[in-house]
Amino acid sequence: MPEPFLPGILGAHKRFEPRPSDVFLASFPKSGTTWLMALTFTTLNRTKHPPCDPDHPLRHRNPHDCVKFLEMAFSLSGDKGNVFAELPSRRVIATHMPYSLLPECITAKGSGRGIVYICRDPKDALVSMWLFTKKKMAAIVAGSNDEDKPPAATSFTIEEAFELFCDGRCICGPQWHHVVGYWEESRKRPEKVLFLRYEEMLRDPVGNVRKLAEFMGCTFSDEEEAAGVVEQIVELCSIDVLKNVEVNKNGTQEFVKNESFFRKGVAGDWSNHMTPVMAARLDKIVEDALQGSGFTF
Ligand code: A3P
Repeated sequence: MPEPFLPGILGAHKRFEPRPSDVFLASFPKSGTTWLMALTFTTLNRTKHPPCDPDHPLRHRNPHDCVKFLEMAFSLSGDKGNVFAELPSRRVIATHMPYSLLPECITAKGSGRGIVYICRDPKDALVSMWLFTKKKMAAIVAGSNDEDKPPAATSFTIEEAFELFCDGRCICGPQWHHVVGYWEESRKRPEKVLFLRYEEMLRDPVGNVRKLAEFMGCTFSDEEEAAGVVEQIVELCSIDVLKNVEVNKNGTQEFVKNESFFRKGVAGDWSNHMTPVMAARLDKIVEDALQGSGFTF
């Protein structure tokens, strides 16, 4: 985990007070978290904020302003703060923590709180993270007056990122351990953990939003289906729409520009950055590590 988040993880363990209606969105970084935030927020709040409303919150707020990360919020709020206590129900809360690090109050049997996990092909998650990190580094270097700043910062190569990723030395890594931790829990308690795949969501966004709504106990009514509400949610949360919202073009989060959350949004872009040899090597590492788990990407 990134070092700045460690106090936040501790804070979440000590001070987070769950509510039965909470929905947690869990993911390995760069796996479609922002998309899942947008879809969940819009689905849950569709009565108050219909997706076709020209003034919908997502038309002037980044999804990360609508859904906060558990560990990040506790890190930023210091020793005593708890921003979640002030939020009205139903709260949607994101996390990049592996399942094994979640506070027990969230994972406890019979707690009734739902976790939605989004999983992505490790090769695409790696490439997405590599490009995101490079952009972030370039911004840091550009904004710095420090002439001693190491020039290597912007020349972080895919080969370097690949070696680190294969070793599991990346944020929340190894990626496959993160995924399989949630997958196993979703098998044991499907009513508690919904396991979604980014590639499946691209293939059938409407079907996956229906699944999401059902899991959260807010299934679409016949009237909503007939009115095309599911399709409207999918459209509002599509990368093409979100990318062009003003705040997503020019706004920022604590550490990053909002635009960096929206790049291509496709499956298989890894092939434009990794060689087939690299891909085969990573696939084999993952396959070996997951042997016996029953899980495949
Ligand atoms: P790419 O870099 O492969 O394009 P996260 O939100 O977990 O940081 O994941 C970021 C990835 O999700 C990026 O992938 C980004 O483009 C993609 N993404 C963001 N919004 C999306 C959306 N509405 N639909 C599909 N993909 C989206």
